[in-house]
Amino acid sequence: MKDLTPNRADLDAIEIASRDEIAALQTQRLKWSLAHAYDNVPFYKQSFDAAGLHPSDLTTLEDLGKFPFTTKLDLRANYPFGMFAIPREQVRRIHASSGTTGQPTVVGYSDNDLKVWGEVVARSLRAAGMRPGDMLHNAYGYGLFTGGLGIHLGADALGLSTVPVSGGMTQRQVRLIEDFRPKGITVTPSYALSILDEYAAQGRDPRQSPLEVGIFGAEPWTNAMRLEIEQAFDMHAVDIYGLSEVMGPGVANECVETKDGLHIWEDHFYPEVIDPETGAVLPDGEIGELVFTSLSKEAFPIIRYRTRDLTRLLPGTARSMRRMEKVTGRSDDMIILRGVNVFPTQIEEQLMTVAGLAPHFQIELSRPGRMDELKVLVEAVEGHQGAEQRAAAAKDLIHKVKTSVGVSIRVEVADPGGVERSQGKAVRIIDKRPKS
Ligand code: DLL
Repeated sequence: MKDLTPNRADLDAIEIASRDEIAALQTQRLKWSLAHAYDNVPFYKQSFDAAGLHPSDLTTLEDLGKFPFTTKLDLRANYPFGMFAIPREQVRRIHASSGTTGQPTVVGYSDNDLKVWGEVVARSLRAAGMRPGDMLHNAYGYGLFTGGLGIHLGADALGLSTVPVSGGMTQRQVRLIEDFRPKGITVTPSYALSILDEYAAQGRDPRQSPLEVGIFGAEPWTNAMRLEIEQAFDMHAVDIYGLSEVMGPGVANECVETKDGLHIWEDHFYPEVIDPETGAVLPDGEIGELVFTSLSKEAFPIIRYRTRDLTRLLPGTARSMRRMEKVTGRSDDMIILRGVNVFPTQIEEQLMTVAGLAPHFQIELSRPGRMDELKVLVEAVEGHQGAEQRAAAAKDLIHKVKTSVGVSIRVEVADPGGVERSQGKAVRIIDKRPKS
């Protein structure tokens, strides 16, 4: 793999500023953001008033901890445009979550918000090793999802040649990568695996592909998966994080030279980690729920938004800005199986170490009797389809999950191609338990 470390001279000054400079900028912007939200969004006025707080009560960054949280329910209650802080005519772009679990969550961007979004995504792509003039194959979905268009904005801002493929039509993905020869690919890690399968189906060697770096996010993935993808394609794999409510992709990104967690672009997004039970702010280094406050957003300011993502904050390394550890999962995706907490990423981690199993998987939850059961549906790789080989692989996975996670599971090893493929975010959990 080539060294893709960016030149220090090409970084934004704030990426390598002193912590004092960063804190001073954050304090100034935070004051503005609280006042902007309070003055222009009735929801924030009510919620601050109810807590007996006024934006002027914030003088230091720590004071933010006194302010109330915002949750997805609050956004839903103000559907569609109730959280917007600028007149609708000044909103240049609207995105929305898919809304599979209820009402979609709607977010908006002003001209300046789109500019900032482009800047932070450009910074992310540069941290991943992309340079002006490089070609990017963008396979995140275009549309209401922020992935495709968000990456596109940043690619334009950095000066890349962008191929806006979007998700799906996997044969064509491979063909365009081989014919156009992009240096980078932006895609969910689960869809990257589908593209990898397609290389095999076409009898092509992915290690000979032109790709030098993949920028993967929008869903949790493990370091074990990173190694698998890096080896399969002979390219770097770095993590990109974001969520629509805070901006979209580009809230945080890993640096290709360190791959040690994601630097949060703290000049625009202020992170806190809280105890999800008590709401107390936790010191850096402790695992809890990630909470974000926007520092510069005009159309859709967001104050102390509870992301449900679990991680911890770590000091800066390749950049001065703090890092967040790879997200282990969302609290919503945590399975409590007979009293033990299980995340799909823990299953993924073990699965990747079992010979003869492909990295595609789904988790099925059921309740045949009084107890919940967890079944992992996985696939045999080509050449490992014999009954004995499958039984041995299943046994190995059951054992590894039992010893590392502490739960007994069932494993079904399907034929190659037997697990549903993702074209965007993978569906990991199928819950067949009776609704109580
Ligand atoms: O997934 C934005 C995005 C697009 C990020 C492309 C990166 C790349 P939403 O659809 O609003 O936005 O989903 C946000 O996805 O709260 C996390 O639970 C999860 N997520 C996003 N990035 C990561 C990541 C986009 N790198 C939700 N690791 C977030 C783990 C991630 N989970």
